[in-house]
Amino acid sequence: MAARKVMVWDLPVRIFHWLLVMSFVMAWLSHESSRYLDVHVFAGYSFFGLLLFRLLWGVFGTHYARFAEFAYGPKEVFVYLKSLLGKGLQSYVGHNPAGAWAIFLLIGFGLVLSVSGLMVLGGEEQQGPLAGVVSFDQGALWMEVHESVALLLLALVCVHVLGVFSESIMHKQNLVGAMFRGTKWVAGESATVPVHHLLGIAIVVALIAWGAVSFGGYLTATADKPYLPFKGPQLAMNDTWQEECGACHLAFHPNLLPARSWQRMFAEQDQHFDEDLMLDEDVVTELTAYAIANAAEQQKTEAAWEMQRTISKDQSPLRITETAYWRDQHHEIQDSVWAQNNIKSKSNCNACHMDADLGTFEDAAMKIPKPSTNPTTNSSKGEMQ
Ligand code: HEC
Ligand code: HEC
Repeated sequence: MAARKVMVWDLPVRIFHWLLVMSFVMAWLSHESSRYLDVHVFAGYSFFGLLLFRLLWGVFGTHYARFAEFAYGPKEVFVYLKSLLGKGLQSYVGHNPAGAWAIFLLIGFGLVLSVSGLMVLGGEEQQGPLAGVVSFDQGALWMEVHESVALLLLALVCVHVLGVFSESIMHKQNLVGAMFRGTKWVAGESATVPVHHLLGIAIVVALIAWGAVSFGGYLTATADKPYLPFKGPQLAMNDTWQEECGACHLAFHPNLLPARSWQRMFAEQDQHFDEDLMLDEDVVTELTAYAIANAAEQQKTEAAWEMQRTISKDQSPLRITETAYWRDQHHEIQDSVWAQNNIKSKSNCNACHMDADLGTFEDAAMKIPKPSTNPTTNSSKGEMQ
């Protein structure tokens, strides 16, 4: 029986496959640091969008792309796996039964991963379509789901890749190449599928457009008007606070510490880190009221939620930079960075956080400045000394 070259994977399937791989890798590489949350979210949405397309294509797509074409029962998987051990190797033009199961699981876990990601984004960050719908606490639970499913999916990807390689060897077919070219050498009668060039190109164009929408802001950003991918809530501001506290350093927004910390700070205002604030009684009254009304307990931002949850109730820290949450977020930053001329102090938040003045401390809004060679450079008004 002469083998024929047959188009098995249409272009949309191949493009879906490789873009899915790329978005998964991108999401994986960007998940550690909140500096890259915008990249992570972009990768996540792309991943989700690609999966949704694949669901449709599994119903309306070409022959081998249809789910019905590779919906094998457990028995067929068993028979197939047994055939791998020697007895009458079975050959499939599209997915083999074991591969088909891997693919259904990959798509299923991928969807759970995407949805849990949206829940985390809505909860922990109060961003995306579920902002305000999911609470910070629920967001933290979804984070557990999101992380576990990501690991499961990674394990499944390994199984899938191992399967592809072993099948390639067993059947002397380059399956990875087939996922690029779309064609396979097939013995016997087998229909070739249409390529669907236009749809394939449309997917790529849509993704590029989505990338432009997601990251275009960086192109027009300037030092004075930085691009903030995530907008935090508009926090209440107070002119007296800005003036009095902003005289020596950044006027830290009250959402960064619990109310009891601010009360203590004003009670001890004559020994404020070796300074005497010398605030009049009515000013103290105004500032205390503002601080209490906007303290961490209000949980207006992720930082506030973390602060009120992690600072023990019998403690009233005066330093944001000595709280467990703050230290946890910054422990990877080297001493040499803190010593940089354009940073100098840990409390000089606005050297790195572009939204420090707003008090929101959103993800992807921080950038560690390069060491400056100019000794007089002062990146912020909040420089101590
Ligand atoms: C006269 C100068 C001065 C004024 C005015 C002032 N501070 Fe401070 N503040 C300091 C100094 C000095 C430090 C210690 C900075 C350091 O070690 O980096 C400090 C530190 C702080 C910290 C701790 C920062 C950290 O490391 O987490 C907070 C919070 C703070 N100030 C709040 C306020 C508030 C609120 C006001 C307004 C009511 C205020 N400060 C006004 C001088 C001042
Ligand atoms: C040297 C630069 C630098 C300074 C100064 C700095 N930060 Fe950060 N901060 C970072 C970086 C970088 C991250 C991201 C850490 C990560 O996730 O990898 C971060 C993360 C955070 C986060 C968590 C953001 C999130 O959504 O996950 C908060 C809140 C925060 N910083 C608050 C502060 C406050 C308040 C100050 C000042 C008292 C401050 N930072 C000073 C660099 C800095």
